Amino acid sequence: MWGGRFAEGPSAVMREINASIPFDQRLWQQDIAGSKAHVAMLGAQGIIDAADAAAIGEGLDTVAADYAANGVPIDLALEDIHMVTEARLAEAIGPVAGRLHTARSRNDQVATDFRLWVRDAIDAVDAGLGALQHALIARAEQHAADVMPGFTHLQSAQPVTLGHHLMAYHEMVARDRGRFADARRRLNLCPLGSAALAGTGFAIDRDATAAALGFDGPTRNSLDAVSDRDFAVEYLTAAAQAALHLSRLAEEFVIWASQPFGFVSLSDQWSTGSSIMPQKRNPDAAELVRGHSGRIIGCLMALMMTMKGLPLAYSKDMQDDKPPVFEAHDLLALSIAAMTGMIESATFRTDRMRALAESGYATATDLADWLVREGGVPFREAHHITGAVVKRAEEQNLPLDQLPIEDLRAIDARIDARVYDVLSVDASVASRTSFGGTAPVRVREAVAAARQARAQE
Ligand code: ARG
Repeated sequence: MWGGRFAEGPSAVMREINASIPFDQRLWQQDIAGSKAHVAMLGAQGIIDAADAAAIGEGLDTVAADYAANGVPIDLALEDIHMVTEARLAEAIGPVAGRLHTARSRNDQVATDFRLWVRDAIDAVDAGLGALQHALIARAEQHAADVMPGFTHLQSAQPVTLGHHLMAYHEMVARDRGRFADARRRLNLCPLGSAALAGTGFAIDRDATAAALGFDGPTRNSLDAVSDRDFAVEYLTAAAQAALHLSRLAEEFVIWASQPFGFVSLSDQWSTGSSIMPQKRNPDAAELVRGHSGRIIGCLMALMMTMKGLPLAYSKDMQDDKPPVFEAHDLLALSIAAMTGMIESATFRTDRMRALAESGYATATDLADWLVREGGVPFREAHHITGAVVKRAEEQNLPLDQLPIEDLRAIDARIDARVYDVLSVDASVASRTSFGGTAPVRVREAVAAARQARAQE
């Protein structure tokens, strides 16, 4: 396609290093859509004959139908999806195919295709994250009042509700979706018509092609448009952040599914066995989500490293933009689906959670708060008194709410029997009614608010 001034073809290695068709075939639908918008515009503007434009448009449909049925033919000599499609078009409709590339370069073509692809990827991820939120909301509602130990430093800290814990992830996913939506807004301008780098002398209509492809308008600077991959970096940034959240959730599932915790039993569908240890029920999917997040973050780094030193405008390094985006997208889509399936099907062992919440002196803060409220004790002193109470409880191997009143009063006479009202884990969570707190009533409100926000999407 570009060999006019070349006497010899490329070496085999040159051909191989140059070819992107093995991976950019994934852009074929976007490439066809971009070409159809372009050729319709060329016809409407009288830049090419209306009849030629119509023939090319139909020919592109034929090529698309062929790709859909048989896949994209991989021919390294044709380099990339743009050239493969043009060659296929020429086979289908003859030399008139050569008019398609008028007032266009592969530089604005690929920039347009890739934006379209990333836009679809964002929409797919958004739908997946929406389904994950749905699963979190449903399980949170079910467990709005079920007590579990809340941790800091992975040490039992204060009792919380499982519903509250799950809704914490709902918040993270909401922010992730916000980042994807934000990236999508900035992405949605059309590079087509920027041509190789400088624009074109043909009387093209960039507003028309932008509108035909669902963009909000054309990009404003041709040099920037062909060398900008911010949209891909932003996609990967949002993907990395989302993967980071999924990884934290996955890590909790790994911990919760361990025998010492026993907080969750994964369903048969979401665990694997061991080939040597028959008792094993391994949380492989959660571990792989945790593992995949590292690779996704790596994809972001790879693209940033590719882009950081490039002068304007297009350089072939930029062909390396696609593999990390494709890889990250596939890993993220799988990770989202896996976490959604695990959340939906997990059996939460609320009995275990409660037992551990009750055994870790998790209501010590409630005792200190009670001393402040009912005894007028300064918090620091109350903290000290409570420390002595916990020590006594440990010595007697009793939970706080079963320590006899004499023991409590021996430590501080300002304590009376009313204190037992706050020492149970249920009383503790029920009291945490501050906005955003763990009390079941607040969790149910959060669930309702999340449902309403989702209904308004
Ligand atoms: N396959 C190329 C890419 O993905 C298309 C653009 C090629 N442009 C060029 N001037 N060689 O970036």
